[in-house]
Formats: sequence, structure tokens, C-alpha cells
Amino acid sequence: MGESITVQEDAGYYFATNILVENLIKNPTFQARSDDILIVTYPKSGTHWIQAIVNLMVQNVENLTDRYKNYLYHLEYTPHQVLNDAPSPRVICTHLPFERIPLNFLREKSKIVLCVRNPRDVAVSYFQFCANLKAIDYRGSFDGFLNLFLNGSLPYNSWFDHVSSWLKVVRSVRHDIHVVRYEDLKQDFLSTVSDLARYLQVDTSPELLEKIQDGTSFENMKICFSDYLLDMSINGKSVIFRKGTVGDWRNYFSPAQVAMLEDEMEEWGLHKHKSIRFSV
Ligand code: PPS
Repeated sequence: MGESITVQEDAGYYFATNILVENLIKNPTFQARSDDILIVTYPKSGTHWIQAIVNLMVQNVENLTDRYKNYLYHLEYTPHQVLNDAPSPRVICTHLPFERIPLNFLREKSKIVLCVRNPRDVAVSYFQFCANLKAIDYRGSFDGFLNLFLNGSLPYNSWFDHVSSWLKVVRSVRHDIHVVRYEDLKQDFLSTVSDLARYLQVDTSPELLEKIQDGTSFENMKICFSDYLLDMSINGKSVIFRKGTVGDWRNYFSPAQVAMLEDEMEEWGLHKHKSIRFSV
């Protein structure tokens, strides 16, 4: 492996090689429910964090436990039989763009939470992930990786395409989607999760939210998930819980690379969206 990444293709769309192909949209066995909560993210945008927060909120419990890992449902990776047998309310995450999610989420009016993160930090996190994951084993430079990121030649294609597809639905008011920014969770956890709780219509006391903040801190999650997916790691370090910070991109991006990414934002018209304006 060098500057490229092996992907599986389905009608122009790229997936990781370990995906359950039968889980893709054409398969009719998945049934959405009206009390489902679908967490939508492009990879490396805080999926595990937001999924943990929402799970604790709806279960009205304050701490992650080992048992909790059984509730990490993933639309592309969890067998449909397991999803169909899971108790309500299910918190299911997906990295799919809007066009590829099962339409019965819309018909059932399931709750949808879109979590977005600064694409600069996403690119860095994805780069480190691909370099540390045995199944991908990316050995190239960050520069080479950024080209793949900008061209959308990675599993789940382009960040820009993904975010555009979902923001179109947010703007069209076709479905009530709640947008959360990773950076807001970092900066102002309590007010960000209070808004989220309101959208989800779950009763959460300020005391519970504070406990969830502590229970889902990067440090606590890293400990709780210390053996999680470790067999997939090349360097023996977590493939998910790396730094958990905002602005690590500064250690990787040159000014020219920042400009390239900004050009792409403009090309997709994404620079105009307030909900994804990132100040760092
Ligand atoms: S994946 O593989 O796509 O599901 O990864 P995902 O969970 O979306 O994103 C991984 C990044 O999220 C960071 N992370 C957190 N940040 C803050 N607080 C908590 N609790 C937390 N949990 C995970 C994780 O460290 C990855 O970001 P980087 O920048 O690589 O550290």
C-alpha cells in the first residue's frame, strides 16, 4: 500500500472492504421505527461520542459501561437481523449520504441527528485512522491523503458531497434534522446537549447532563473502550480515540493545503452555511 486506498465500489460509491454489502439501501430487510434515532456523520466526525451521549440520554443513565458497547448499532456494519431484534429506542449511526439511507426512516419520521466537524480536523483524523488500521494500512504522506480526501476517493467518498447531501435536506425542511457540531460539543457541551435533548424530546435534568458530560469525556471513553477494535490497530493504539481535540489540523496543513480545502468548500457552496462555519 502506498498513496492509494483499497475500496469496494457500489454504483460509484466507495465503501471500506469490511462493510456488510447486504446492508446497503437496496436490501429491504431493514425496518426503521418512529422512535429510532439515526446519527449521521461523515467518518471521523465524532460518531462514537455523539452516539454515546444520545444513548445515555435516552436510557437516562449517566455512565458508559462495557455492556454499552452492545448498543453501538451501525447501519452499514450491524447485521439487519440484530438491528431488527434490537429493543427500542435504537440509536443507529450511519456514514451514508442522504440518497443512500433507507427511505423508511423518513416515512417513520425517525429522529435524525447530523453531527459535523471541521473538515480539516476530519481529514487529519481520517489520515491517522487509515494509517493505523490493518484493513487499510495507508503508508502515504498526508499530502497524498489530502488529495484522496478532496477527490472523494476514500471509503464514504467525499466529505463535501456527504455534508451537501444532508444540508440540502436540512434546508428543504423535508425532514426535521438536528445539526450538532463537534466543536460546539467541545466548547459548550451543556448547552449543545440541552438543545439536542429538546430535539429528541427526552427529559434530562441538568444534573444528568453534567454526569453525561463527565461520562463521555474523551478520557473516560478512551478508558471504557480501551480494548475496542484494538485487534484492527497496527500500532496497538486505539483506532477511534486518538486525540479528541479541535485544531490538530494546524500540525498538518500547509497554507496551500488550507487554500485547496477552502476552494473545495466554495465549489460546493458550503462556505455559505452558517451551521458548518468553523472558526479554527
Ligand atoms: S469513526 O471511525 O468514523 O466512527 O470515528 P468517529 O467516532 O466519527 O471519530 C473519531 C474522532 O472522534 C474523537 N472522539 C472524541 N472527541 C472528543 N470527546 C470524545 N469523547 C471523543 N470520542 C471520540 C476521536 O478522538 C477521533 O478524533 P481524533 O481527532 O482522531 O482524535
